[in-house]
Amino acid sequence: MDSLIEKIQKLKKERNAVILAHNYQLSEVQDIADFTGDSLDLSRRAAQSDAAVIVFCGVHFMAETAAILAPGKKVLLPEKNAGCPMADMITAAKLRELKKENPGALVVSYVNTTAEVKAETDICCTSANAEKILRTLSGRKVIFVPDRNLGSYASSKAGCEMIIYDGYCHVHSRILAQHIKDAKHKHPKAEVVAHPECNPDVSALADKVLSTSGMLEYAASSKSSEMIIATETGILHRLRKENPLKKFYPALELAVCSNMKKTSLEKVLWALEEMRYEIKVDPVIAEKAKISIDKMLEYSRSE
Ligand code: 13P
Ligand code: SF4
Repeated sequence: MDSLIEKIQKLKKERNAVILAHNYQLSEVQDIADFTGDSLDLSRRAAQSDAAVIVFCGVHFMAETAAILAPGKKVLLPEKNAGCPMADMITAAKLRELKKENPGALVVSYVNTTAEVKAETDICCTSANAEKILRTLSGRKVIFVPDRNLGSYASSKAGCEMIIYDGYCHVHSRILAQHIKDAKHKHPKAEVVAHPECNPDVSALADKVLSTSGMLEYAASSKSSEMIIATETGILHRLRKENPLKKFYPALELAVCSNMKKTSLEKVLWALEEMRYEIKVDPVIAEKAKISIDKMLEYSRSE
C-alpha cells in the first residue's frame, strides 16, 4: 500500500499541482513541498508557476496572494481555518478612515493583510523588502499597516517617518529581550538573528534582523557556527537541515504559530483528493490588490 507521501506525490502529478510551503510549516510538510520559502519567495513562485493547481501550505493571506497573482489557477489552502491574527487587525474600512485622515499619504501594507486591504494599498511589502521599498518613497507621507514592529524597524533603517498602525504578531511579541539575554548568557559565542516582527527591544539586541529566507541565506554564509534564532520555531528545521555543522537555538521554544501548524500531511492529501479548500478572491478586489503586489515584485526584482 502506498504511504501518505507516495499518495501525495502521485496525486500531485495527476492534478498538475505544485506544493508551496512557508518556512514556519511543520517539518514533514516542508519536506514534501516543491518549494519552501518566505512570503516574498512564495509570492514570486505563485506568480511564475505554470501548474494548474497550487496547494498553499501556509496561512490564508498567503493563499489569497497566490490566487491574486495566479488568476485562472486553483489555489488550495489545506486547512481552511489557518489565518493570521495580525492580518485581521486591520480592515479595509479602518484603512479608508486612515486615508481620509491623512490625505495624499501613500499606503504601504505588509503582505500579511487581506485582499480587501491590499486593494486599498499603493504598494505591498514583505519583511524581506520593506526597507528597500520605503527608501524609494523618501519625502512622501506614508501610512504603514498593520505591523508596528516591522514598520518601526524598516522606517528607522530607511530613515523615514511614517504613520504606523498598531498591529502586531502575537507569536513574535512573546519573545522578550530577557529571553535573548538569557540565551546569550547560555551561548555566549552565538550570534543573535531576529525577525523584524519582534519587539523593538529584541531587534535592538540582534546582530542581524532578517526575514525567514534572509536568515537561511545568512546562516549559510556567516562564519559563526552558533546562532540564537528569534522567530517562529518552524524555521529551525531548514536551518539545521541546510547547515548540519552549525548549531541553532530558539530564543523561545514557545514561539509557535498555531495557525501555521494546522496543516498536516493528511490535510495536504485531502486537499488534493477533494480539491479543497479553494481560495477565491472577488475579481474587482483582486484586480486592485494585484496592482499593489505587482509593484512590490517590481521593486524587489533584484533581490
Ligand atoms: P517571512 O516573510 O519572513 O517569511 O515572515 C512572514 C511571517 O511572519 C509569516 O506570517
Ligand atoms: Fe501571522 Fe504571526 Fe503566525 Fe506569521 S507568525 S502567520 S504574522 S500570527
